[in-house]
Amino acid sequence: MVSAGLRIPEVAAGARILAFGDYRPAKVVTNDDLAKSIDTDDAWIRSRVGIAERRIAADDEGIVELGVHAGGKALANSGLAPSDIDLVILATCSAESPMPSHAAAVAHRLGIDAPGAFDLNAACAGFCYALGTASAAVRAGSARNVLVIGSEKMSQWLDWTDRTTCIIFADGAGAAVVTGSDEPGIGPVVWGSDGEGFDKIIIPDRHSFIRQEGQAVFRWATTAIAPVALEACERAGVAPQDLAAIVPHQANLRIIEAIARKVKAVNAVVADDIVHSGNTSGASIPLAMSRMIERGDVPSGAPALLVGFGAGLSYAAQVIQIP
Ligand code: UT7
Repeated sequence: MVSAGLRIPEVAAGARILAFGDYRPAKVVTNDDLAKSIDTDDAWIRSRVGIAERRIAADDEGIVELGVHAGGKALANSGLAPSDIDLVILATCSAESPMPSHAAAVAHRLGIDAPGAFDLNAACAGFCYALGTASAAVRAGSARNVLVIGSEKMSQWLDWTDRTTCIIFADGAGAAVVTGSDEPGIGPVVWGSDGEGFDKIIIPDRHSFIRQEGQAVFRWATTAIAPVALEACERAGVAPQDLAAIVPHQANLRIIEAIARKVKAVNAVVADDIVHSGNTSGASIPLAMSRMIERGDVPSGAPALLVGFGAGLSYAAQVIQIP
């Protein structure tokens, strides 16, 4: 065979997260607010889901607007300039339109010139999928620095008369800047999907609202996800008791606590951003991580476990070094 003589770039041994950023829309909707128009109450929502209030985006705040706020903050926190970013990945499952990609628009708004840009949909596991993809791109030499964003406007896909969904989902965006490093700061991603449950959480077409079989998803999340989380620890070479934080997708506080219990991360702070932010799907993990860092709940440099799961039924987990 004739050799094509291709070259491959010099690669970074590892990738790490330089900084996180978040954005929560201004409008707060409490459980009591919802109870004015649907048959529900604060006590039921708090005890069954763990949510006290959630943020809902304004009419003129779409996926791009939310992503610009969170991505801009992550970029500012990272100390990098827009010109340093050469790939933007935006995870969303609640986009208002299928094209162009929201990633390209966010990049343009942030003054990032000519980056690779694409959207990624793995629903509530989207941020962990995007982070795994960003890490691989940096280590393969396809990008120097990557802006990873989870941006969701779930409210535009909600039937506000359906008490089984409208009390759960919310809006927001979170982001992270990924760079190359000698020491790995993002462990191997463990990702997969269980297609048998593909219709358990679904927006069937553009004229429909989000529907989910709550109990079936609850059973799956509380049984199938902890082994994925443990495998991510195992593959990163981090013992669960050494984790400083565990950040499961903020789906339901009972699910979060069940996963944390099964992982036996006895010294870890368990993310509970759902209480004030609701379930923001692919944005929930970077939103939660940002807040934990800002509050000083977690030490810089320590390992944290991220675990995303949701529609698909898709899942992904990895251990990161807290920036
Ligand atoms: O982010 C993507 C991943 N999604 C998830 O992980 C969601 C997983 N599932 C869940 O979090 C829970 O199943 C829900 C929060 C969706 C529901 O909680 P549940 O404890 O499974 O409630 P349920 O569906 O078994 O309903 C119990 C009762 C029912 O009444 P009856 O039939 O017992 O009389 C429901 O009609 O609660 C009723 N109910 C409500 N009551 C007050 C359902 N929604 C509400 C509500 N307020 N909002």
